[in-house]
Amino acid sequence: MSLILGLETSCDETAAAVVEDGRRVVSSVVASQVDLHREYGGVFPEMASRQHVLDIVPVTEQALGRAQVDWAVLDALAVTSGPGLVGSLLVGMNLGKAAAWATSLPLIGVNHLEAHLYANWLVPRAGHPGDQVPADPRFPLLCLIVSGGHTDLVLMKGHSEYRRLGQTLDDAAGEAFDKVARLLGLGYPGGPAIQAAADSGNPKRFDFPRALLRQGYDFSFSGLKTAVLRVVQKYEGGSSRPSRQRSRMITSRAAPPLRRLPLADLASSFQAAVVDVLVEKTSRAAMEYQVGVVLLAGGVASNTLLRREMESRLTVPVRYPPPSLCTDNAAMVASAGHFKYLAGERHEWSLDVQPGLSIPVQAQGDG
Ligand code: KG4
Ligand code: ZN
Repeated sequence: MSLILGLETSCDETAAAVVEDGRRVVSSVVASQVDLHREYGGVFPEMASRQHVLDIVPVTEQALGRAQVDWAVLDALAVTSGPGLVGSLLVGMNLGKAAAWATSLPLIGVNHLEAHLYANWLVPRAGHPGDQVPADPRFPLLCLIVSGGHTDLVLMKGHSEYRRLGQTLDDAAGEAFDKVARLLGLGYPGGPAIQAAADSGNPKRFDFPRALLRQGYDFSFSGLKTAVLRVVQKYEGGSSRPSRQRSRMITSRAAPPLRRLPLADLASSFQAAVVDVLVEKTSRAAMEYQVGVVLLAGGVASNTLLRREMESRLTVPVRYPPPSLCTDNAAMVASAGHFKYLAGERHEWSLDVQPGLSIPVQAQGDG
């Protein structure tokens, strides 16, 4: 039995959670900074770190309070070490180190991408008596990690045994949602906004490109983003080439709301194109590697069309966390930390943040 405190500050959520045995969420507290960053159309890194500094102690105290546990009964402290924004990561890392030093708890650095994946091991602790607790996912399994910064298709043969089959060559899936939402004037964060706008739209109205659909397992979403831009320009009466001003809007400030644009159809056709590519490649990989289950992870895994299409088009069972555990949270960090704790992993005080960390893959050919 283990009781682990997780801390997460890699981007714009300050989170702390207590998790038992890597599975049962005893408490999970998330302070979102979405309202703070909305007017900038994306995360403002300096403001994010300052807000983490204000929130991290109260959030941690709340997580311990709700779990009704004291530092003394914890077994370890798990903290996100990367990838993420350097200033944001440092806040969680420094609190983690200070608390571990003061309480003599082991410190475990956790890769944020692995943590997303381990959200699939979590179950609420306060279930009803007689509730069926789902079994642990069985290896080998395939995991699609789709977040704001990453799109990785990963084969997992055991705990910490990863082989990356594919990754994005340009924009991440969540990044594509965020950039296209900005282009359409739908605000931040883009994923939920596009999903809501797409609800009443026709997914076949615009035939957007599905890059690399039948080639390998890598992804590319930047051409799709440009295709949406061209349609927007057509409706605006602008040139058919991406205007420099509009291109800049993709990467900087929020675009003003547009008139006349068939927003619902555009959002729906864009969403269908992203989902189509994600499902097609995942389905092909699940067959090629004969996995028993597919796990979805990361913020984009809360997309209802993605979940539905995965379930209807794949021939193997598909699992995904509830939406609150798909987006950034600390319960997933504690869960990943638990499996590292069991494997005897402990970190020294020299542990540092690693903003550019990727999933820790084995060399090709290892399995
Ligand atoms: O995993 P996450 O919370 O943070 C990162 O580690 O990046 O993912 C955030 C991303 C954002 O790009 C957001 O737009 C996207 O997840 N997202 C969604 C949905 N909810 C969040 N994308 C599509 N549909 C959604 N419902
Ligand atoms: Zn994340």
